[in-house]
Amino acid sequence: KQQRFLDHKSSTASTDNTVKRKKKNDSVSDSLISEKDLPILNLLNEAEKLLLSKQTSKAKDAFQKLINSNPESPRARFGKAEALNKQSEEEKSNKLLQECIQAYGEVAQLQNCPVELKKKTLLLKADRQTFLGHLKAALQTKLQLAREFPTDANVVNQLGVGYLYVGKNNKAKQSFERVLQSHPGNGFALVHLGFITKIQGDWKKSIDFLLPGIHTLAEGTQQGKFYFHLGDALHRTNRTEEAKAIYKLGAERGLFRSKYQRSLYNVERLKSRPYWTAQQAKVTDYVKKLESNWKIIRDEAMKVMDVKKGLFVKEEESLKNTGEWRQFTLFQRGKKEVDCKRVPKTCALLEQMPNAIGCKRGQIKFSIMMPGTHVWPHTGPTNCRLRMHLGLVIPQTGDGVRIRCADDIRTWEEGKVLIFDDSYEHEVWQNAETFRLILIVDVWHPDLSEREKRNLMPI
Ligand code: LMR
Ligand code: MN
Repeated sequence: KQQRFLDHKSSTASTDNTVKRKKKNDSVSDSLISEKDLPILNLLNEAEKLLLSKQTSKAKDAFQKLINSNPESPRARFGKAEALNKQSEEEKSNKLLQECIQAYGEVAQLQNCPVELKKKTLLLKADRQTFLGHLKAALQTKLQLAREFPTDANVVNQLGVGYLYVGKNNKAKQSFERVLQSHPGNGFALVHLGFITKIQGDWKKSIDFLLPGIHTLAEGTQQGKFYFHLGDALHRTNRTEEAKAIYKLGAERGLFRSKYQRSLYNVERLKSRPYWTAQQAKVTDYVKKLESNWKIIRDEAMKVMDVKKGLFVKEEESLKNTGEWRQFTLFQRGKKEVDCKRVPKTCALLEQMPNAIGCKRGQIKFSIMMPGTHVWPHTGPTNCRLRMHLGLVIPQTGDGVRIRCADDIRTWEEGKVLIFDDSYEHEVWQNAETFRLILIVDVWHPDLSEREKRNLMPI
């Protein structure tokens, strides 16, 4: 794309500050050039060459010199912004990134900024603001874009994403709907609208957007999360075979590790299997501690259930199909979530398990499930943890209780630890006559290095 700047041929100035296109289908590059750039075109090209040949700091100086002599040249300012962008990446500097954002904005403010360049520079500004985590500021930039380019599908799509990032899902929806009114086959709008519709709970409708959306193969549509939610929506509306086909396709396209292992935050080299033994998971000492103290743990859990019922909160990720399922979280993302006075002995035991309480990609929680509960097949977010289940109260009445991980159905035993990898699809049935209680303890995957455990982003 940069190359286009260097390919400039036309030199006819026009009245709207944009060099007029000679032919109808002339390259868009012309529309990025202002008459204010014309006197210094050669120098601009020289500076752009510096930028392309990775002489970033020299390029920045060259553009700055051009700004000093020609303060109204949009391309000089744009060039400086591009140089700052590259430099901020090279030096991993947020300060330079802020300067870069400022510089992109200044391009757009120029009276004679060509329309196409204005769009380009503001899109880049919003992108850099998003990267920096300035989501509200990015949204403001996108609103400005949408005011100036209200019929541009890409601009309005980006506005939708901007709303999504700040949690304004209904506003986001409106943006994508607006795009689809004028561009009914726009894949980007389809998958995003489908995604929001799905997380808002309208499974059936979400399929009508997600399915055609991913098949467009358009830019931005080939993301694991769209396949993930499409498969889930298909499954939950009884279109099981189609769900399987989508998971298979997602795996073939490299979006999932396999049709069953659909976690989206992965360290690729880690060994994976649905169920693990304590030896394989390198947690024999933890398992020993949990199994030899299981009655103490059970009694503490039962006590808080009786006197502090409110600590057990309903599962909130809409994973449940029927029934009732509550959890009491002790640790989460490597941080203590509980006043340990509530369950002091359990806490004291856990404190001896650094790979569990320090697992920034996991949780430790009591989980109680009532008869008549069915948990939809689902997968956890990451392959970086393994999940230990310590059976505390396991009823054997009725149809009993079962868990399926991948193709393998198992059950719990009181006082015994079951270990599985919850990045694989799993599903739970509670068809006994009384409640089932377990302690869930996530541990770091044994193949992770200490450095990785320190540096991985918490989930
Ligand atoms: C899960 O981890 O998804 C479930 O197995 C938890 C539970 O309480 O069974
Ligand atoms: Mn689960």
